[in-house]
Amino acid sequence: PSVEAAELERTFIAIKPDGVQRGLISEIISRFERKGYKLVAVKLVVPTKEFAMQHYDDLKGRPFFNGLCDFLSSGPVLAMVWEGQGVIKYGRKLIGATAPQNSEPGTIRGDLAISVGRNIIHGSDGPETAVAEIALWFKPEELLSYSKVTDKWLYE
Ligand code: TYD
Repeated sequence: PSVEAAELERTFIAIKPDGVQRGLISEIISRFERKGYKLVAVKLVVPTKEFAMQHYDDLKGRPFFNGLCDFLSSGPVLAMVWEGQGVIKYGRKLIGATAPQNSEPGTIRGDLAISVGRNIIHGSDGPETAVAEIALWFKPEELLSYSKVTDKWLYE
């Protein structure tokens, strides 16, 4: 697989308001960056509640939906797109299980969170979701394609 092919896979990752307020931006970015993934878009935004409801549309009807959308729109969110081979699935692995009580130590939620409703980070759960979430949060021109000298040391 070439670096070109590897560049095709992208995922949407967001540090939720609790992660931003707790000063975990650099900690979380470091984990993705050190793994070898490439940051191709980033912005700090306070989503409206309507926007949060769109983002979590598949969860409408769940008892926690309203509180979840209030929470996501309660302050700055660091929205990002990360790129690399297998980044969608492995990004979820770095993040850990939804409920921090079930997240393994070593994962972001396992190491840094306690409650399911304050689990500090979001990551797309599959290829279709990734495409939809990237399109919801970013304009096409906000997504960058660029090479790094380390690309050739990351992929065969
Ligand atoms: P979900 O998409 O199931 O999990 P994930 O974020 O791991 O993809 O749920 C979205 C968010 O909803 C989750 O990160 C935290 C919140 N949530 C609750 O507050 N209570 C719950 O019981 C569940 C399942 C999720």
